Amino acid sequence: MRVLAHLSDLHFGRTDPKVVAALLADLERHRPHQVIISGDLTQRARSHQFAEARAFLERMPAPALVVPGNHDLSPLYRPFSRIFRPRAKFRHHLPGHDELPVWTDPEVMVIGLDSTRSLRWKSGALKGAHLDHLEETLDNAPQHAARVVFLHHPPSTAFSGHPYEVLVEHGIDLVLTGHVHHAHVELINGVQGGSLVLVQATTACSTRLREDSNGYCLVRLDGNHMEIGIQGWSGEVFHTVRHHWFEKYAGAWRMIPRPMHVFPP
Ligand SMILES: [Fe+2]
Ligand SMILES: [Fe+2]
Repeated sequence: MRVLAHLSDLHFGRTDPKVVAALLADLERHRPHQVIISGDLTQRARSHQFAEARAFLERMPAPALVVPGNHDLSPLYRPFSRIFRPRAKFRHHLPGHDELPVWTDPEVMVIGLDSTRSLRWKSGALKGAHLDHLEETLDNAPQHAARVVFLHHPPSTAFSGHPYEVLVEHGIDLVLTGHVHHAHVELINGVQGGSLVLVQATTACSTRLREDSNGYCLVRLDGNHMEIGIQGWSGEVFHTVRHHWFEKYAGAWRMIPRPMHVFPP
């Protein structure tokens, strides 16, 4: 069994310190095997905001995988660096955090894709090179490992055509995204069969709230079972606000009611 903590849209520069402290305490309590951060670590890609993000990553109770979000690229009012060196600060301040990170063990493979584009602000895109990278990485996936992809923009804004089909075709089990600051869990059925689970996280600790409060997701993967726990901010602590359970049957995921066996808290 593997536990992944999925955080997104931290937006250092516009965070609530009380929420940040509680978030670290909740992560410490749940002890995930891996922390996955799907972009927008900063508010305006300023050096001191990246420094805060780096200090936060250094306090993680597990290794963290990170991809940039649109707010982590050089801002549009700096057109030269925006066009020619959009990810320079991300690379400088977060050394070791590649834009296409991969982590694997016999139970799970996690692949990060950078969906940001220098000349687009809100909508993302993925290039053919990303899909080549995905295919090459999956060629080396352990046979029974769950396949997890994470990216900042929801695939409906980053892929054209049938946005999820290419991921279902590649046997992806779970897609983790952010950007819209709203928690959402959905089962996506492929056109040709197969399915995947889409998890969109709200903003973990920023005051840039839209329709949702702060929160993050805990994913428990155990063979053909998957549990998604939505952790929400009560005003004092993070606590579990709801669960979603899925089971893989005949090669496709399906949503199930609360199972007989529930993972320990
Ligand atoms: Fe954001
Ligand atoms: Fe974003």
